[in-house]
Amino acid sequence: GVKGGFGVFAVLGEANSLGPNDKKSLWGTLFDVEDPRSKAPQCKGRFLDVYQALELARYDIQYCDWRARQDLRTIVLLHEKVVEVLNPLAREYKSIGTMKKELAELQGELAQAHKQVHISEARVSAALDKLAYMEELVNGKLLEDGTKMESSIAAPSSSTSTQSLDTMKRPRKSLDVSGPVQPYHPRLKNFWYPVAFSTDLKDETMIPIDCFEEPWVLFRGKDGNPGCVQNTCAHRACPLHLGSVNEGRIQCPYHGWEYTTDGKCEKMPSTRLLNVKIKSLPCLEQEGMIWIWPGDDPPTTTLPSLQPPSGFVIHAEIVMELPVEHGLLLDNLLDLAHAPFTHTSTFAKGWTVPSLVKFLTPASGLQGYWDPYPIDMEFQPPCMVLSTIGISKPGKLEGQSTKECTTHLHQLHVCLPSSRNKTRLLYRMSLDFAPLLKHIPFMHYLWRHFAEQVLNEDLRLVIGQQERMINGANVWNWPVTYDKLGVRYRLWRDAVERGSKPLPFSKPM
Ligand code: FES
Ligand SMILES: [Fe+2]
Repeated sequence: GVKGGFGVFAVLGEANSLGPNDKKSLWGTLFDVEDPRSKAPQCKGRFLDVYQALELARYDIQYCDWRARQDLRTIVLLHEKVVEVLNPLAREYKSIGTMKKELAELQGELAQAHKQVHISEARVSAALDKLAYMEELVNGKLLEDGTKMESSIAAPSSSTSTQSLDTMKRPRKSLDVSGPVQPYHPRLKNFWYPVAFSTDLKDETMIPIDCFEEPWVLFRGKDGNPGCVQNTCAHRACPLHLGSVNEGRIQCPYHGWEYTTDGKCEKMPSTRLLNVKIKSLPCLEQEGMIWIWPGDDPPTTTLPSLQPPSGFVIHAEIVMELPVEHGLLLDNLLDLAHAPFTHTSTFAKGWTVPSLVKFLTPASGLQGYWDPYPIDMEFQPPCMVLSTIGISKPGKLEGQSTKECTTHLHQLHVCLPSSRNKTRLLYRMSLDFAPLLKHIPFMHYLWRHFAEQVLNEDLRLVIGQQERMINGANVWNWPVTYDKLGVRYRLWRDAVERGSKPLPFSKPM
């Protein structure tokens, strides 16, 4: 009743220490949004291309936003009126009867305004759906634009099934990733690449790696900082990693020449010291990983962060050398739709096959979540995949969002292009529960075993794809909805190799 109304008035009066003018200006900024209706795209009764349609969807959102603000303004004004009616000063001049009547009228108007807000809400949700759909279309359009020619899979003429496929009306969406694996494009080298975990590089250890088909070796200098030099001695080409590290210098096992982390030869036993230098790469250590810059361009000053979110503890860091081209492995990691078919004896055991699998990217083009799985995923250029998997019950993943799950597994996969048709995979696994697992002896072997099992399920398939690709088949012959992230990776990579700027799907502002 009226008494409660006083309460509301009192609370408002106290909480709002702003003067009446300040209050107006506060609301003013909220409501001072231009009516977008004058700028509606003119497209009634016309067929739109995807960009025009996207423009239209954007306009819808703008309109919804403006409409919602108008609704809110109505409610605010009505609320002010209620307060006015209940104002103890005004009350003196009114009978209780008049007040009741006025309040009832206001109540009616408020109910009306609330209804309007619900309508606006529904409108916003419809507009957002439309926008998501438009995004799919634009994605498809990008795909078309990125493709020079129609797919041209060499169909063996004896196979009737392939023939019937070819005579069907083919979708225009296709990427061409076929033929023998090409040498790596030099532009792909102009990125920071994680190449090893810090914990694996002790003071006296050497880690030989191949990167872009060249042999390198990592070791720590006198100051403890990591360095990366060519893994070939300047004297007679002996692999340096077969030698040792002495006082921060790598010593060739053949005749004892010693090199610093920047490649300078500082010791040449049994002969006069000559001015000799071997190649070295910019090398940094960040967040428990060693990074190198293999490109010719000057290195960028910032490295991306690959840390799991706070609250996660790293449980395993595993390195594997795999016999597939890194792009094929990335395609595989960026795909979740294969899980209930491929990973039937590991993590996807017992999963049902959903009627529709989608990858949604509300925030940025290379980052999003899987529907209907509680899995968030991100492609981090140039070759990293980050994923967070919500775990409610083991083996029961479907139908929940990642946020709704109480426990999570975070994974980092780095797919380093090593030598021809080979990938050096760095895998890091973190959990936001059971921190004590870490201290169980030999747990590391168990994690490695799990990771290898999962990967082996993929590998036999990807190796098979690679064989076919080498013989001319297109591994992206017929992409569908759930292939979005993999396709975007390919578009990104094509753009890098073509030297286009800015690169597609760069992070939002
Ligand atoms: S080959 Fe290395 S010192 Fe001779
Ligand atoms: Fe897989």
